[in-house]
Amino acid sequence: MSLQSELETLATFTDAPPPAVTRVVYSATDLRAREYVKGLCTAAGLAIREDAAGNIFARWQGADPALPAVATGSHIDAIPNAGGYDGTVGVLGGLEAIRILQRTGARPRRSIELVIFCAEEPTRFGIGCFGSRLLAGLLDPATLRDPDGRTLDDWRTAAGFHGDLAHVRLPAGRYSAFVELHIEQGPLLEQSGVPLGIVTAIAAPASLRLWIEGEGGHAGAVLMPQRRDAFCAAAEIVLAEEAGAKATGAIDTVATAGICEVFPGAINSIPSRVKLELDVRDIDEGRRDAVLAAIDRACEEVAARRGVTVRKELINRDAPAHCAPLVIDALTSAAERCGLAYRKMVSRAYHDSLFMSRIAPTAMLFIPCRGGVSHRPDEFATPEAIASGARVLSETLALLSDL
Ligand code: GLV
Ligand code: MN
Ligand code: MN
Repeated sequence: MSLQSELETLATFTDAPPPAVTRVVYSATDLRAREYVKGLCTAAGLAIREDAAGNIFARWQGADPALPAVATGSHIDAIPNAGGYDGTVGVLGGLEAIRILQRTGARPRRSIELVIFCAEEPTRFGIGCFGSRLLAGLLDPATLRDPDGRTLDDWRTAAGFHGDLAHVRLPAGRYSAFVELHIEQGPLLEQSGVPLGIVTAIAAPASLRLWIEGEGGHAGAVLMPQRRDAFCAAAEIVLAEEAGAKATGAIDTVATAGICEVFPGAINSIPSRVKLELDVRDIDEGRRDAVLAAIDRACEEVAARRGVTVRKELINRDAPAHCAPLVIDALTSAAERCGLAYRKMVSRAYHDSLFMSRIAPTAMLFIPCRGGVSHRPDEFATPEAIASGARVLSETLALLSDL
């Protein structure tokens, strides 16, 4: 089967009507998709290990197995109503890169390991990249809870992942390099007609959860001066978040309110409670933190003026990643060997590479996607772009494994 048909098959493992892909970590669909990918890895002669959280490692043993391996990989989980390319191109493209090297007949010096991170998306527990955060030793697994209070332990054991979560953390020096292939998820490559992006830095994400509590009541009977409407308060906070991002004056500051749950959710009932989840990012950590501070100020001001309470939980506040010259140079040489133009760029989306960069020299390779569209069912990358990505990745892995 070709890489393209493998991607198409993987996209059929979905809980949304195709072409939409919904594949939340530990769902039955996620587990079936993992079996499919593991089958492909086994067919390529890779040795598979799964850790207690469900990260998958598929290793092609090198000539000197005692050396730290070179790793590549990405994720196959997907947010609700996503497309078929985010993450999957880096997983199946990573596998294809290994198969390209296998077909040359040469054995790499270092082992090459494909990592399928257990959940890049913040779907189940509200935090992105919990698999790679655990690998890097940056997250206490006991803190993870879904909205119903179910823990990581509940979910992963029900999904068949047992063993001690304390052993998920990778030992220092496990990998000599990590490189992730991904669709750009933005329009720059397509607009400039350049086939490859070499990522030099990954923007710093932060997210928070707010509970706003006011007073409910009858939508007809309670007069406006008496109201303590939690949703009106939430709306002001969301607009303050947007204003805070715009006020930095930097195009790199972005802020989103993607989750808003209104209680009790009846048209004729004043909202008494709202849960908001806010996402703020910037390549400049200080500027990102200025937006978080603006949100804090808005919460205090709106709460006092509207007579509501606001409770805040910081989900994550991460530093940006600066990619490693070792891997950037290997990507650059590989692109040149393949005769493909590239531009250096920043990743505004986060990736497991953000956390792998804390434990291994890391960089990323981007390919264009149509219209820069991602996290939508119409996400698309051409077979040619994907094939180029896999080819340059295979050259990169070859270079890194011989270092
Ligand atoms: C990853 O999916 C992100 O939200 O950047
Ligand atoms: Mn994504
Ligand atoms: Mn992704």
